[in-house]
Amino acid sequence: MFKLTIHGDDRIAQIEPALYGHFTEHIGGVFYDGIWVGEDSKVPNIRGLRKELIEKLRAIHAPVIRWPGGCFAETYDWRDGIGPRENRPTRINWWRNADGRYEPNVVGTHEFVDFCRLVGAEPYFAANITSLTPLAIRDWMDYCNSPAGTTTLAKEREKNGAREPFGVKYWGVGNETWGGGGNMTGEMYAHEYRKYAVVMENAYPKAQLICSGADHDDWHWANDVLRVLEPSNRIMSGLSLHFYCGSAGDPLAFSEEEWYRQLRQALDVERAIERNWGFVVGYGLERRARLVIDEWGCWHPGGSGPSTHMKEYGIEPAPNNPDGVQNLFEQQSTMRDGIVAAATLNLFNNHAEKIKMATVAQLVNNLHCLFLAGGEHFITTPTYHVFDMMQSHMGGDALRVSGDRGVIAREKTAARGAYAIPNLSASASVKDGVLTVTLANLSVTEAADVRLNLSELTPAAEAEYLTLTASDPHAHNTYEDPEAVKLESRTGPFDGSVTVPAFSAMTVKVRV
Ligand code: AHR
Repeated sequence: MFKLTIHGDDRIAQIEPALYGHFTEHIGGVFYDGIWVGEDSKVPNIRGLRKELIEKLRAIHAPVIRWPGGCFAETYDWRDGIGPRENRPTRINWWRNADGRYEPNVVGTHEFVDFCRLVGAEPYFAANITSLTPLAIRDWMDYCNSPAGTTTLAKEREKNGAREPFGVKYWGVGNETWGGGGNMTGEMYAHEYRKYAVVMENAYPKAQLICSGADHDDWHWANDVLRVLEPSNRIMSGLSLHFYCGSAGDPLAFSEEEWYRQLRQALDVERAIERNWGFVVGYGLERRARLVIDEWGCWHPGGSGPSTHMKEYGIEPAPNNPDGVQNLFEQQSTMRDGIVAAATLNLFNNHAEKIKMATVAQLVNNLHCLFLAGGEHFITTPTYHVFDMMQSHMGGDALRVSGDRGVIAREKTAARGAYAIPNLSASASVKDGVLTVTLANLSVTEAADVRLNLSELTPAAEAEYLTLTASDPHAHNTYEDPEAVKLESRTGPFDGSVTVPAFSAMTVKVRV
């Protein structure tokens, strides 16, 4: 029996809804044909955008969507994606060598903002600072945000079908500037940032600028960047962090040892949050900037997703996919990916005071995705259900959870050394008089009996229980069996005792 206390009088911070955000890039099958199917498609669509995907995102109240990359952003010229579609140029995609595709620019600023509006999400744009000038970025901001009828670019936007401004609030100043985004050192990037940001800051209305941050366990980057930025700290409202927890074994046929190793790798995000936050605080920026974890998730080897069977399913390859075989980085998602997502989101809740936004990579047909889609086929993954079951944390006050989470210790291996992970992952929040508690059982063999002690909170007699479970940790949804993994919901008496099945997650919602 694990005994956890939820401290009603120990509020961490408000959980920004944006912690439950998404990331989309022009790569593989994310846009063509994950999100965009075209207006003439037999796939139900709204102005060319896949209708079912929009509805599913509305159902989980997706708060923010990052675009257009990723590395793709670093050679993207926004001007290629405006105006009549038939006149838009086809370009080399940053990912061309790995992806074998060209970028047709069918989805550009207008289509993406339309997508966000249909979903009800805020757009978050990543600006290209590798190959566009500060002036070109200022123009994009002007095009997007200037009031109707004011500037020449606002009038051009109107001519292209959008009189009212798009109101894009969040702007990333580059992406992975230590790698695909310019291959810079921290100091170099910081000087570039100062230059771009001082121009971008003066765009109207004021934008929130996100500084390109560290990768995974690079502990130097934030220090190198913030040392140079600190004297001009007024122009940063977020410091990004990318945390991919890699892969452990085959995405579908992993062993028990690999299950735990994957979770170990995922839980390391907490160390990355603490270390990067330490630099933010160390430079005295914590009142202005919080962390933006704008790419996170498992990164399994490609080839496990359904696009490998495109032709068997009778799916026409996306028009710009000359190979027609496989979407780059597309991967299947099992219960393991779902539990990684639940444990990661629990950690985000528990560090709510440090995090402004987080966007999982990537939305559809890609890494750690919520959806897989091809032609008329469309399915949700276990990760989607985790976002669904945890959505009531969004905007809630995160509460401290203490107690015994247990320990699962693994043998020392030549490759990794000894490691331990907690048996349970947990977070709690309260919003509008409802307490939400999410528990993930990281054991792949044993159910977890949990006793929840509510301190300074008086619960109602009934609760809602949402459980994501399956008969096998490898369980996943397919086009043939789209509901092999789905959320179970029930209402029942609440006495503080719950049992979370092995390799499963549960959200309990009770009025307090
Ligand atoms: O998500 C795929 C890629 O991972 C992104 O383009 C890049 O930012 C990261 O390296």
